[in-house]
Amino acid sequence: MSLQADAIDRILSGVRVMPVVVIEKTAHAAPLARALMDGGIKGIEVTLRTPVALEAVKTILAEVPEMTVGTGTVLSPNDFDASAEAGAAFAVSPGLTDELARSAASLFSQMPLLPGTATASEVMKALDHGFERLKLFPAEAVGGLNLIKSLASPLPRAKFCPTGGITEKTAPDYLAQANIFCVGGSWLTPKALMEEGDWGEITRRAKIAAVL
Ligand code: 3PG
Repeated sequence: MSLQADAIDRILSGVRVMPVVVIEKTAHAAPLARALMDGGIKGIEVTLRTPVALEAVKTILAEVPEMTVGTGTVLSPNDFDASAEAGAAFAVSPGLTDELARSAASLFSQMPLLPGTATASEVMKALDHGFERLKLFPAEAVGGLNLIKSLASPLPRAKFCPTGGITEKTAPDYLAQANIFCVGGSWLTPKALMEEGDWGEITRRAKIAAVL
């Protein structure tokens, strides 16, 4: 097993469903993380898609320290370095570039990268770089569960966290597949619930997801 696989398995042990969140306001960060934690969800991917994302990561780490926090939508070495500096436990990218692979190698001991893949060739390239835990993105659009099942036999070292189009209904079938270690999605934390501050509904969704 590669060092990256070992690190991701350790960091995300007990995280079977990972909310992929877009935090628009820093004030949402702590109540959101608490709502998820109250529902039994122990890991979260905070996407770097808003100006407050890194601030939100720091806020969650300070106020809900039992939550495992990673960054998502990491596109460049800058994003990667900023994630490490903010204290993220792991970083997730929608795809993989050589620059990102180099950043991940140089900062490996601090923060592993979970890179995105969508084809057999991309999985092979990621494996060549030592990545054995991979995101499949955008999962439903590129073949979803059928694709992951098809990759199991030729590429047995790769294990996946699919994200993109997964729902509370479809997650269990994904999670039953041996080469899937977790699934990610936004269904637990839609924008409207966060805007309304309906943390109770987010906890309700988290409770269902935590036992999938
Ligand atoms: C994303 O890119 O936002 C994640 O993959 C989540 O996708 P989803 O909104 O389809 O769950």
